Amino acid sequence: MGLAGWLVGFPTQANDEVQRAALDDARKAATELVTGVRTELLKAIEASGPLRAIVVCKYVTPEIASAVSRKYGARVTRVSLTPRNPSLGWGDAWEQKVLMGFDERIAAGEKAEGMEFHEVVKEPSGKFLRYMRALPMQPACMHCHGPTDQMSEPIRSQLAHDYPHDRATGLTLGKARGAVTYKKPL
Ligand code: HEC
Repeated sequence: MGLAGWLVGFPTQANDEVQRAALDDARKAATELVTGVRTELLKAIEASGPLRAIVVCKYVTPEIASAVSRKYGARVTRVSLTPRNPSLGWGDAWEQKVLMGFDERIAAGEKAEGMEFHEVVKEPSGKFLRYMRALPMQPACMHCHGPTDQMSEPIRSQLAHDYPHDRATGLTLGKARGAVTYKKPL
């Protein structure tokens, strides 16, 4: 490549590299959040049962999400089309569109495990890398997100007490409970 080509080519190449690095970070951050939550959740279920594990979802998960967000300089959290916690759980328009896309792909037979989507989006304040990864319903999730008639009575009443507007029940294995979402300025 001649000098002129290099001068013209360089910015896009640099751009590609920035985007690739950003996507790598997004994947790492999503894994850290998912692994952190799962570890704490399983530990709590094993140590004191699923009822006590509600505390993990309520207080420990937002802490892990904040720590991962600070570490990566990004917004990293969990969203759903049917959230339990309306203050954290609703996604924005882009996230809702991606979540609907995930549900369609799962309905068409694709596995929820490892399902992801990313896009560079322009917003008034600049360009962002956005990334999401589906959170499949696994056996452990059924305690608190499965059909209510299959839940233990203490969990059902605790959830009803803490989340009177709960929309996050009635799910079955293999469906997406929601997704991890990552947003970082480029
Ligand atoms: C012990 C009960 C319990 C178990 C088990 C559990 N969750 Fe939750 N989940 C909750 C509670 C409680 C909240 C709401 C937390 C809050 O107040 O922000 C929640 C919130 C969420 C959210 C955030 C969106 C929303 O609905 O507010 C996602 C995503 C989620 N859970 C996915 C999962 C997945 C996937 C599993 C299985 C790996 C799982 N949960 C297992 C109780 C549980």
